[in-house]
Amino acid sequence: MRISEFGHAEGSFGLGFGLRLPPMCGIVGYVGSQSALDVVMAGLKRLEYRGYDSAGVAVLADGGLAAAKKAGKLINLEKELVDRPLPTGTTGIGHTRWATHGGPTDANAHPHLDNAGRVAVVHNGIIENFAALRAELEERGHALASETDTEVVAHLLAEEFSSCADPAEAMRLVCRRLEGAFTLVAVHADEPDVVVGARRNSPLVVGVGEGEAFLASDVAAFIAHTRSAIELGQDQVVELRRDSVTVTGFDGRPADVRSYHIDWDASAAEKGGYDYFMLKEIAEQPKAVADTLLGRIDDSGSLTLDEVRISAAELREVDKVVIIACGTAFHAGLIAKYAIEHWTRIPCEVELASEFRYRDPILDPRTLVIAISQSGETMDTLMALRHAREQGSKVLAICNTNGSTIPRESDAVLYTHAGPEVAVASTKAFLTQLVACYLVALYLGQVRGTKWGDEIDAVIRDLSQISGEVERVLETMEPVRALARTLASKNTVLFLGRHVGYPVALEGALKLKELAYMHAEGFAAGELKHGPIALIEEDLPVVVVVPSPRGRSVLHDKIVSNIQEIRARGARTIVIAEEGDETVVPYADHLIRIPATPTLLQPLVATVPLQVFACELATARGNEVDQPRNLAKSVTVE
Ligand code: M6R
Repeated sequence: MRISEFGHAEGSFGLGFGLRLPPMCGIVGYVGSQSALDVVMAGLKRLEYRGYDSAGVAVLADGGLAAAKKAGKLINLEKELVDRPLPTGTTGIGHTRWATHGGPTDANAHPHLDNAGRVAVVHNGIIENFAALRAELEERGHALASETDTEVVAHLLAEEFSSCADPAEAMRLVCRRLEGAFTLVAVHADEPDVVVGARRNSPLVVGVGEGEAFLASDVAAFIAHTRSAIELGQDQVVELRRDSVTVTGFDGRPADVRSYHIDWDASAAEKGGYDYFMLKEIAEQPKAVADTLLGRIDDSGSLTLDEVRISAAELREVDKVVIIACGTAFHAGLIAKYAIEHWTRIPCEVELASEFRYRDPILDPRTLVIAISQSGETMDTLMALRHAREQGSKVLAICNTNGSTIPRESDAVLYTHAGPEVAVASTKAFLTQLVACYLVALYLGQVRGTKWGDEIDAVIRDLSQISGEVERVLETMEPVRALARTLASKNTVLFLGRHVGYPVALEGALKLKELAYMHAEGFAAGELKHGPIALIEEDLPVVVVVPSPRGRSVLHDKIVSNIQEIRARGARTIVIAEEGDETVVPYADHLIRIPATPTLLQPLVATVPLQVFACELATARGNEVDQPRNLAKSVTVE
């Protein structure tokens, strides 16, 4: 397919199964009339969440190619560019890395160049046959300078270009020789107005502007310049010029692609005055929750989930629901189980996606599998959903990222409308995943007739109030922040909950681990006496999520006893309880109030103080809030 003068072509493409997804890195390419360095660096800033082990750029200028790269965060590269500025050019590429082959050093940072310094390439993925290619290149006299798998591509591109003098053709020829997962972007000094890219597995999106074009792993990198995007499919090569975008398959045939309009604006991908993306994303939760509900109820008041392309007849046949997810999304799944079983009476299992396919799960066409993922790129979840589909089960994805791999490989998708989540610690994605799960549970109840219309209406009314309740929680967070600061020198914090409060406790502990690097564990409060109570010692902070006394009061009474048990053993109790619940007051060293909500919906308000608590503790301990050590936003390796 050729798109000239930025006319768009619509099309579709499919993904093959059994592919291996690459690790997370951020890639940017630009050709136009602005300073390529400025555009690429600004894009890399927006993609730094994808990896922050090293960063690098290359620009074409004055008939040659100039590159700079530095280990560590982007700030190190920025300093390097101040000390040793690059010449100005209008074509360039950049990369932010999450290391796989070779440590996070300057030499291993991308871009990688050929020996003549005419080709520069950036890469996201793993080239599995790189050792053989490297040996072959060395035999032909090439000198390779890094430990990476990527560098071979620069040398191979240089060789191919020397015979065909066409960057896109050189890229196609090289891609046909590569095994594994690779998304590549490259420039050649002999073609100063061309950027070429290749996509296998991880995302690569084209941005189409006026007299300029962009390539990036995520639209956030170019949203400040254009909202017009083209999503590349599997095994496609793209050639960008200022006024044209040409897409072919690795075989050179014109390819079908999908063009689309990006419906969120640049400010959504910026900090908007907050110190951290995480703080902004916590604050955005009322809106995100409301947006996820938007348009789901039709004029007659009944629930419509248009994106669910599994028929009502098929849903009536479902005899088991299995939820697969990782990390925070897994916790959303654990909460969903309570709603699904209570509202539909269908048995529901929740499984860590990374464990799922290795235990030979019992699946058949009557099993509905729900895959929950913010990014839509998590490898463990993707492999689990492929396994489920191979067994004949239908898969419904609950996802936040439009067009990502998990929804594209699912039978149906329900998008959460949280907007871009940049901070590595998931916050607004979690709340919107919960809303989406409640909607799916209600929908199942509706089509199977296990819930009456007025009962569904009542829950929907409660859900519509939640946005305002989350807002109220956020307005009362100062004491939580103050408390967190006093605990900065502690080594351990425990979290207890019962019923849906148990997954909330797990989520509170996960947030604290990943942000504050503290030992934190979540327990079902009833399990405490079976072992974990031995951990309680003088002044140990224990956060307890208390169920509503208005709901299943037996749960409430039991957890009040649990609080007394740990307090008697010296714990410092931090109690999260509903407004008006006076029974907990005598046993709470610190009391965090949340609005009264129906039992099943309580996680939507109870989680928020725990997010704020973890964020403040991380700040007090001097940690990087948005980019915690060793992590990446989406984990695309198993
Ligand atoms: O993109 P996903 O929702 O599939 O990601 C799953 C987990 O990796 C993710 O929730 C992770 O646990 C977060 N960093 C937690 O804050």
